[in-house]
Amino acid sequence: MSEFAPRLLAWQRGHGRHDLPWQGGGDPYRIWLSEIMLQQTRVDTVIPYYQRFLARFPDLAGLAAAPVEEVMALWSGLGYYARARNLHRAAQVVMTEHGGVFPHNAATIATLPGVGRSTAAAIAAFAFDERAAILDGNVKRVLCRIFGIEGFPGDKAVEDRLWALAESLLPEHEPGRYIQAQMDLGAMLCTRARPACARCPFHGDCIARRTGRIAELPAARPK
Ligand code: ADE
Repeated sequence: MSEFAPRLLAWQRGHGRHDLPWQGGGDPYRIWLSEIMLQQTRVDTVIPYYQRFLARFPDLAGLAAAPVEEVMALWSGLGYYARARNLHRAAQVVMTEHGGVFPHNAATIATLPGVGRSTAAAIAAFAFDERAAILDGNVKRVLCRIFGIEGFPGDKAVEDRLWALAESLLPEHEPGRYIQAQMDLGAMLCTRARPACARCPFHGDCIARRTGRIAELPAARPK
C-alpha cells in the first residue's frame, strides 16, 4: 500500500491521544518508566502508578539508590513484578555502566534489563527522535490485518516478516508521533475484539476487512 505512514499520521493528528502524562516531556527516564509499565498493562491502570512512582522517584539516580523493596511496594498491584526488578537493575546499570546518562540509541537501550527490541525502539523514538520500528502485540495485530499477513505472529518466520514490514513502513520524519499513531490505532480502533473498522483510515485497503477475516487475523497460536 502506498502512503501508509502519512495516512496514519494524519489520522493521529485528529484522533490519536495527545495528552498522556508521559507525552511531550522528552525525558528518557520518564518515557522508559512509562513504556515498562505499559508493556502488559492498560493506559488507565498505569496512570496513577506512574504518577506515584515519579513522585517518589523523580529521577533515575534516586531509583538506582533505593532499596528494591521500596520499588516493589510502589509496583504492588500492577502485576508482572519482574518488570519492577528489571527496572531497578536497569537503573543501576545506567549509573554504573553509562555514567548515569540514559543511553541515546535503541541498540544500547535494548541491552538494559527488561527492555526488548520494540520497547527500546519506542523509547529511542519518543525521547531522541530515532527512526526505529516497533512491533508490540498491537502493531502485530494491525499489520497482520491491514496487510493480510498469514500465520501465527509468534512464529519466528512470521515475526521476521512483520519486523521487515514495520521497518519498510517507517516514515522519514516524526518517528515518535508515528509510533504513537500505531499504538493508538491498535488500542483505539483495531482492537482484538469488535474493531471499529468504519472509523479506520485503512478501511478501504485492509485485507482482513475486505476478505471478511477480521476474526481470523492475526492467526491464533497453533494447537
Ligand atoms: N502502550 C505502550 N506504549 C504506549 C504509549 N506510549 N502510549 C499509549 N499506550 C502505550
